[in-house]
Amino acid sequence: MATHMDTVRVALGERSYDILIGAGLLARIGAFLSSLNLGQRGVIITDTNVEKLYAAKLRAVLAAEVITVPAGESSKSLRQASRLLEMLPGLKLDRRSFVVALGGGVVGDLAGFVAATYLRGINFIQVPTSLLAMVDSSVGGKTGVNLPQGKNLVGAFYQPRLVIADTDTLQTLPERELRAGFAEVIKTAAIWDAGFFTWLEQHGQTSLAEAVRRCCAIKAEVVSRDEREGGLRAILNFGHTVGHAMEALAGYAGVLHGEAVALGMCCAAELSVKRAGLKREEADRLKRLIANSQLPTRLGERYRLEDLRAAMQLDKKTVGGRLRFVLLKKLGEAVVSDAVTDADLEEAIYVCR
Ligand code: NAD
Ligand code: GLY
Repeated sequence: MATHMDTVRVALGERSYDILIGAGLLARIGAFLSSLNLGQRGVIITDTNVEKLYAAKLRAVLAAEVITVPAGESSKSLRQASRLLEMLPGLKLDRRSFVVALGGGVVGDLAGFVAATYLRGINFIQVPTSLLAMVDSSVGGKTGVNLPQGKNLVGAFYQPRLVIADTDTLQTLPERELRAGFAEVIKTAAIWDAGFFTWLEQHGQTSLAEAVRRCCAIKAEVVSRDEREGGLRAILNFGHTVGHAMEALAGYAGVLHGEAVALGMCCAAELSVKRAGLKREEADRLKRLIANSQLPTRLGERYRLEDLRAAMQLDKKTVGGRLRFVLLKKLGEAVVSDAVTDADLEEAIYVCR
């Protein structure tokens, strides 16, 4: 018997697609893909952890080769991308062939970049298995890899044809990864939907499928209005200006993306009180929800202000050398600001030490 499934539509004209969310969807993937009129040949790109758990399940319903990359952020590299690309001609993939990304955000971003660039673009299907990938990275078409100098500095906007989020896969996700993914859930509520934020305060991590659905609906709305980050979409980077800098300084090791975003949101909350009129009590609610979700709220002594500032200058969010921050006017309403001064940043980082 088919179990309940939610469908969220990302409305982008001829690039529109559905996000399917529910339990037990991996077993139904063959049927979902058959409606897309794809070619016979395809490849499943996954990582070493997810391969052990789910690749066989997917292969049972999908005739496709499996290619595996080492688990972890370091696989989001030009080296891995070129290794994968050079394997594809041998698999005789053509323009109608498809790439399935089975895994977290690392696999999704990497496989998406490969799909975007091979033969100037072949069909791409996202099968996110981490919470972060379900609520954020699998939706919206940002694909790419890191350079040693910074995150996501090489990439392409390339929308998937379909996203299939089987929430059963979250059962095997390590606790720390689940919490890190929850940081992006909190971010999504904080920038867009005060009611959802209150719901998160009440439900915590007890209703993840519903949290996934609500996050996907919000991201679909934002991306539909601004696919290529000409304006509105930038609000999805709330917490990411400082967060990305911390990840780069840590060499993409030791701190998870979601943990860095959690710390970045704490700094951004302070900056929002100073520069965007966020009420102190709302900033405190945000920090409390982050702390209650067992995410970090204190930077400690690990990151020096000068290093953070230098790393931020390399970030894509820097425009004409000026740092841009996403700030909250209130819970549920975000604004992009270039009013933050060095002194503001220093103070925010000091308060969050
Ligand atoms: P990840 O892909 O490294 O996955 C986290 C860990 O969980 C890995 O070890 C992975 O092997 C494991 N894993 C995944 N699913 C599992 C499962 N069901 N069971 C057991 N283990 C599982 O990291 P992530 O947090 O999913 O994604 C982070 C990446 O996403 C970063 O590179 C970040 O920049 C990117 N990102 C991209 C976007 C975008 O819009 N494209 C948005 C947000 C984040
Ligand atoms: N995660 C930010 C974006 O998709 O735009």
